[in-house]
Amino acid sequence: MNDIPHMTPDEFRKHGREVVDWIARYMETVEQFPVLSQAGPGETRSQLPEAPPEEGESFDAMMADVDRIIMPGITHWQSPYFFGFFPANISAPSILGELLTAGLGVQGMIWATSPACTEVETLVLDWLVGMLGLPGKFKSDSQGGGVIQDTASSSSLCAMLAARERATNFASNEKGITQTLTAYTSNQAHSSIEKAIKIIGIGREHLRLIDVDETFAMKPTKLQEAISADRAAGLTPFFVSATVGTTSSNGFDPLTAIGEICSRENLWMHVDAAMSGTAALCEEFRDIHDGLEYADSYCFNPHKWMLTNFDCDCFYVADRAALINTLSILPEYLRNQASESGEVFDYRDWHIPLGRRFRALKLWFVIRHYGVNGLKQHVREHISHAQAFASWVKSDDNFEIAAPHRLTLVCFRHKEGDAINQRILDHLNHSGKMFLTHTKLDDKLTLRMSIGATATKREHVRQAWTWIREAAQACEYND
Ligand SMILES: Cc1ncc(COP(=O)(O)O)c(C=O)c1O
Repeated sequence: MNDIPHMTPDEFRKHGREVVDWIARYMETVEQFPVLSQAGPGETRSQLPEAPPEEGESFDAMMADVDRIIMPGITHWQSPYFFGFFPANISAPSILGELLTAGLGVQGMIWATSPACTEVETLVLDWLVGMLGLPGKFKSDSQGGGVIQDTASSSSLCAMLAARERATNFASNEKGITQTLTAYTSNQAHSSIEKAIKIIGIGREHLRLIDVDETFAMKPTKLQEAISADRAAGLTPFFVSATVGTTSSNGFDPLTAIGEICSRENLWMHVDAAMSGTAALCEEFRDIHDGLEYADSYCFNPHKWMLTNFDCDCFYVADRAALINTLSILPEYLRNQASESGEVFDYRDWHIPLGRRFRALKLWFVIRHYGVNGLKQHVREHISHAQAFASWVKSDDNFEIAAPHRLTLVCFRHKEGDAINQRILDHLNHSGKMFLTHTKLDDKLTLRMSIGATATKREHVRQAWTWIREAAQACEYND
C-alpha cells in the first residue's frame, strides 16, 4: 500500500514560499483587476470537474487553477478602488498571524486546551478597551470582559440571548419562553438584529423598528413611547440595540438618551459599532461612544476597518456572569482542574460554538506591528479621503450629499433622480474600474462611497470621483 500523500515539511516550505510570493504579487497588482468580478452565475463551477480527483494532484496544478478559474470569480475587496458595502480590510501582519494560527491548528475551546490562546485574547481585548477609550467595566479585571466572535451578527445574538435570560431570571433556557418579550432598534439597524430576534424565538413581530431623525439616528422619544405602549399592553420589553455607525448611512444613535431609557426601564442595552467603532482609536472621534457607560454589551469589527483579516469581531459585556450563565454547558469530558479553580476564562461559554480558532494572534500581530499610532494614522487618512470626496461632491451642481458624513461613508446622489443614479452605478460597476454600492435614503436611490480598503489613497479617491463624473455625463448623454 502507498503512503498517504502528506506534503513533506520541505514541500510545504517550497509551496508556502510560492503562496506568500503569490499573495505579495497580488498586493502589488490588485489595482489592475476588474474590481467587481465579471463572472456570471455558474461560470466558475462550469470550469471545474464535477467529481473530486481519485488520486491527489500536484500543488502546481491547483495554483494554476487558482489563476485561471478562481481569480476571474473574485471580487477584489482589497482593491484600492473597492468602495462598496463596508470594507473588509487586511494587512500583511494579519495574514501572517492567520497563517500561524492555521499552522498551530489549536482548538481553544477552554483555557486548558491552549492557555496562550485564551490569555492572549483576554490581553488584546483589554488593550482595546484602553485603545478605544471604552468603559472600564468591559475589562477582564472588572465584572465584565471581552471575547472574539466570528461576526457582529453573532455578538448581537449572544447579547440578545443573555438579555433574554436576564429578563426571565434565567428561566427561558430551562422552560422555554413563557412571556411575550419585545425588543427595540432603529429602522436603520443592521439586518442581523432582525435575524437574531428570529433565532432566539422572540419573533419578528416583537421587534420594534423605531423611527429616526434627519441624521438617521434613533429618536429616543419614539423609543420611550414604544416601550410604554408595550408595557401598557402587558408585554415585557427586554432589549434595545443602538448602532454607532449604521450600515446604510452611518447614522449614530444617541447612546446617552437611549441609555437613560434602558436604565430607567431595566432593559439590556447592546451597542453595535461594527464598522465605526474603530474610529474611536483617535481621540477626536471618541465622542461617537458618548453614553457607552450605559451599555450592557458592545461590539466592533476589526475585520472591517482595523486591518485584521475576516473574521474578527470584538464583543464586550459589562457582566460576564450573565453571558456565561446563559451559554454555559459542562459535559463530563470537558471538566478539568483549571476550569473548576475559577481562575481562568473558558471562552466556549462566551459564544455559540464550542470550538474556537486562535483569532487573537492576528489581532495581536496587527496591534504590535502598527502600534497604536500607526492605527490612528490609518483611520485619520481614510477619514480625510472621505471628507475630501464629500467636498468635491458638494462643489458639483449635478450632485448632492444625502446624509451626514463624519467618518468614511459618503452618501450622495445625482440630483436628477433614481434612474440616472442606477445607470451611473451600473456603468461604474460593469466597467470594472471601481465598485460602489447603493442604499435608499428618504426613499431615494443613493450611492454610497465607502472608503476603507488598506490600499486606498487620495489619488484613488480622486480618480474615482473623475470616473463618477464621467459616468454621469455618459448616462445623461444616453437619455
Ligand atoms: C452596523 C453593522 N452591524 C452589523 C454588521 C454585520 O457584520 P458581520 O458581518 O460582522 O456580522 C454590519 C455589516 O456591515 C454593520 O454595518
